[in-house]
Amino acid sequence: MQSASTSATTSSAGNARAEKPRGTLLIVDDEEGPRQSLRVVFKEDYNLLLASNGHDAVELAKNHKINAAVLDIRMTGMSGTEVLEKLKSIQPSIEVIMLTAYETVDTVRQALRLGACDYLNKPFDVPTIRKAVATAMERHSFADEIRSNNEKLTALQAELHDQRLQEEITRTRGEIYASIIHDINGPLTIISGFIQIINQRMGDSKRLEGEDMEMVKDRLRRITRQVSNCIEISHRYLSFMRQQPAGPARTNVNQILDDLRELLNVHPSKGANTLKIHTLAQEVELQMNGTDLIQILLNLAINALQCSPEPHLVDIAGQMLNTGADFSHLYEGPADRILYGQGFSNTPPLLLLSVRDDGPGIPPDVLPKIFQPYFTTKAPGKGTGLGLAIVHRLLKEARGCMHVHSKPGEGTSFNIYLPATVKR
Ligand SMILES: Nc1ncnc2c1ncn2[C@@H]1O[C@H](COP(=O)(O)OP(=O)(O)OP(=O)(O)O)[C@@H](O)[C@H]1O
Ligand SMILES: [Mg+2]
Repeated sequence: MQSASTSATTSSAGNARAEKPRGTLLIVDDEEGPRQSLRVVFKEDYNLLLASNGHDAVELAKNHKINAAVLDIRMTGMSGTEVLEKLKSIQPSIEVIMLTAYETVDTVRQALRLGACDYLNKPFDVPTIRKAVATAMERHSFADEIRSNNEKLTALQAELHDQRLQEEITRTRGEIYASIIHDINGPLTIISGFIQIINQRMGDSKRLEGEDMEMVKDRLRRITRQVSNCIEISHRYLSFMRQQPAGPARTNVNQILDDLRELLNVHPSKGANTLKIHTLAQEVELQMNGTDLIQILLNLAINALQCSPEPHLVDIAGQMLNTGADFSHLYEGPADRILYGQGFSNTPPLLLLSVRDDGPGIPPDVLPKIFQPYFTTKAPGKGTGLGLAIVHRLLKEARGCMHVHSKPGEGTSFNIYLPATVKR
């Protein structure tokens, strides 16, 4: 049995073909005559690999990169179609031309189905086989080019994706840092309000006694709470940035409303405005973090307090909806925005919290923009435009939903729907 052999003949330097790497052609035939005549025909054009049986052909395919093969369909031992199947499974890109003699149409069809690119009847003439092999080589290099371009494209896409991911991370980081500063600003303003009260009470007195002493102690306790709030806000944002899941949380709504009253009464925006905060008749719990709820309400209430320099009313109230919310009459329009948080389900019991004001209202051209990060109508340096974007994000996390109704001259109401439980 003749073993597999290789013959790599290089064409002369300076020849145009020499610039392109020569393709490798595998010739598989168990008859010495056709094998050798094919060798003679192609030795100047390609690197040749010769095999006299299927087994050797398969071994050669395992160890060499092959562009095309000429394969006799009728061989002793492994049949041509079997070899074809094996070659294709080792190197799917090999273009295979089958040499046929008296095969039935079915055998030829089967070879084509298994991925042969062409078939030639024996005896073949030289120009025909040259043309068939040249076409197979071309197809191979074309397919190779497509494959390599595809690989480059995939690599480029991966790179772009990484780049975008990096940009996204940088952007989110920026937004989170800005949010921390925005949210901590609330408690800090309140702390400075308490400190002012303490300073006024202390005046020039050298010693603090009795009621004054109690008042200072009480304000210091409240300051300490706000400092803890600042720390918790930054911790929550930073753990969000590190993608750490927040633990389960429960919040007593009336407690938050009491805190809100206390905080807003010392906030400079309160000014001469009338602030009404109604606690709920029942004790209601929400499955969200207390700092998140207070951030939502503080942002909405401060916006409401700041919406006009004229003294106006800000009213904050809650209502249990034991049969779910009726959204059928609500629609997006010039005076209405509805924002459903992902995962919001209108299943009772729900808590409706509303922050209403009788200020100037929001013009229809401004209303669609108010939740965009950094959108503000305040004077430069007065507002970051982050407050409502933060409210929207916190509400989404709490699986809540929000309806804003505002008309110029008629004031504004922000209505928040949150899944709730009534405490028995
Ligand atoms: N109650 C309201 N009445 C009228 N306009 C409002 C009201 N609430 C929000 N807006 C409008 O929405 C805009 C965006 O509000 P947002 O809280 O996001 O930012 P901001 O209040 O401008 O800035 P910051 O929150 O940093 O103080 C406001 O600039 C204002 O135009
Ligand atoms: Mg705001």
